[in-house]
Amino acid sequence: MREDRSFPPSAAFAAQANATGQLYEDAQADPKRFWSDQAARLDWQTPFTEIVDWTDAPFAKWFVGGRLNVAYNCVDRHVESGHGDQVALIFEGEPGDRRDITYAQLQREVSQAANALTELGVVAGDRVAIYMPMIPEAVVAMLACARIGAPHSVVFAGFAAHALESRINDAQASVVITADGQHRRGSVMPLKPAVDEAVAKCPSVKSVLVVRRAGNDVAFDAERDVWWDDIVTRQPDIHTPESFDAEHPLFILYTSGTTGNPKGILHTCGGYLTQTSYTHNVVFDLKPDTDVYWCTADIGWITGHSYIVYGPLANRVTQVIYEGTPDTPTQDRWWDIIERHKVTILYTAPTAIRTFMKWGDHLPAGKDLTSLRLLGSVGEPINPEAWMWYRDVIGGGTCPIVDTWWQTETGAIMIAPLPGVTACKPGSAMGALPGIGAAVVDDHGTQLGNGHGGYLVLTQPWPSMLRGIWGDPQRYVDTYWSRWSHLYFAGDGAKLDDDGAIWLMGRVDDVMNISGHRISTTEVESALVAHPMIAEAAVVGANDDTTGQAIVAFVILRAGAEDGDGLAQALRAHVAHEIGPIAKPRQILVVPELPKTRSGKIMRRLLRDVAENRAMGDATTLADPTVMNLIASGLAHATPED
Ligand code: WT7
Repeated sequence: MREDRSFPPSAAFAAQANATGQLYEDAQADPKRFWSDQAARLDWQTPFTEIVDWTDAPFAKWFVGGRLNVAYNCVDRHVESGHGDQVALIFEGEPGDRRDITYAQLQREVSQAANALTELGVVAGDRVAIYMPMIPEAVVAMLACARIGAPHSVVFAGFAAHALESRINDAQASVVITADGQHRRGSVMPLKPAVDEAVAKCPSVKSVLVVRRAGNDVAFDAERDVWWDDIVTRQPDIHTPESFDAEHPLFILYTSGTTGNPKGILHTCGGYLTQTSYTHNVVFDLKPDTDVYWCTADIGWITGHSYIVYGPLANRVTQVIYEGTPDTPTQDRWWDIIERHKVTILYTAPTAIRTFMKWGDHLPAGKDLTSLRLLGSVGEPINPEAWMWYRDVIGGGTCPIVDTWWQTETGAIMIAPLPGVTACKPGSAMGALPGIGAAVVDDHGTQLGNGHGGYLVLTQPWPSMLRGIWGDPQRYVDTYWSRWSHLYFAGDGAKLDDDGAIWLMGRVDDVMNISGHRISTTEVESALVAHPMIAEAAVVGANDDTTGQAIVAFVILRAGAEDGDGLAQALRAHVAHEIGPIAKPRQILVVPELPKTRSGKIMRRLLRDVAENRAMGDATTLADPTVMNLIASGLAHATPED
């Protein structure tokens, strides 16, 4: 790790930046006042009377007594302030179709969708599942839910039927919004069949609202299914937004934990919108009148919620939304989009950056990227090589890079540089934002000084913090607040360098990070043992040059099952069917035994050594120390990647 290079902002960038160093001082001097100033970015129908109530810690209440409508803040108020003709969404479909949607149009569409949901019987507090491609209707659907106070649960459209089903059931959603299909990699990928399969086992679902996107044939249940074109389009395009309490649930988003059951992370209205708006303004330096912003995430993940929908729209962004993959029709699609739309701010993930590095510098070099003025990174640690490439090849050597650390649970960015202030080191997320408390602690929860590594914790409540886990308050306390009292344990390892800059070191629990997506080892293990040929499975995340980590599975076959050609392929397909293609193991190794402690816990550390071709670490706590030799010798005829 090189810590000597550091890139201060140019004088020109600093001179025009939204945030100056003063922000750190303001937050330090009077944290409550600071957050109440940030909340003033929003329009409150009823002002709050208390900034934060932490008396029932770790259950927080922010902006107590305040009432607002999130959709009004993201759409209507911009129309009222005279910006109805400003383009909000520049949509580009994978086949090349284009649609610009202004704030005035967005207001009409969100109003119609809100009216349609009301007609379907949805009332404030009801849950709505959204399983959609990256099309404008996905944004409209989320905002329509927010507008009527019905918390949405967006499920990434890459998840399979089974994963969708468990999420719908956990939230007891009454409506599912989906599409016939989506354009991916040059062909139509149907979505409706997965919904049909899932909903068959979801008794809470009364209606399925279907957007016609790809024109593919779909099965249609006349009792339950309704076309968006029918019900939404015929609604009045005005809808009066009601205000909701600052702590009214805004959405649930499922994320993997260390068990097989995903956790429904709950976010509420006032604090979440305050911090997403604040961070989007200061970290991305958004100038609403001139910038063209593009966050390449999918709305199925928290990044899409916070930095496509809520933060940016609250800040009156003009932004690109792209439906498809970066290599369709050619590997320079993203650079082409940036050139044509003159994108000024790009927010993407290290795994994408590394893929583009592999595809070659000639691709971005063939397009005019000079419109770019700021670059962001999220999802996993960005290695210094990728950081430098991003800066030089994409950013022309001049754009500041903001490496942003946060989580589904934190709701908004927590650790990142301020682009007009911080001198950035390639590979470091630098420091906690103004108003945020982060520290690195040892096993005892003792705060460590510069030059030391340990666990990343958050030391004080923040407005966009999760309010709990849907239906399981105890799991919330146990998962995040029990290791050390009064400290939120993020699950990440981190190091403070000699200057106090924070370097994220990856997860320290059984959670893998594949291309910036969180997948638990247990989830993949459960999927594998559900296959008739598998008796036992252990899964680890091994380092991977492109995806950060890749899934490596060790399996024990059932008696009678044979390790033949096609086994690995069949198992990978099985996992894709159970969870989704993102959870497919890169490698599956058939082994005679698994390394376990005397209490039966799998020692993943040793398997990781094997998966990463390293000399094996200390194996003395194994119940049977000879197991690792057995595994190592078995690897001589291991199943290679297919
Ligand atoms: C985990 C959260 C936050 C949106 C995308 C992922 C890792 C995230 C960074 C970063 C190093 C990062 C952490 C974190 N992570 N951003 N800039 N540097 N690691 O959200 O699925 O909730 O995953 O992603 O391990 O705990 P998520």
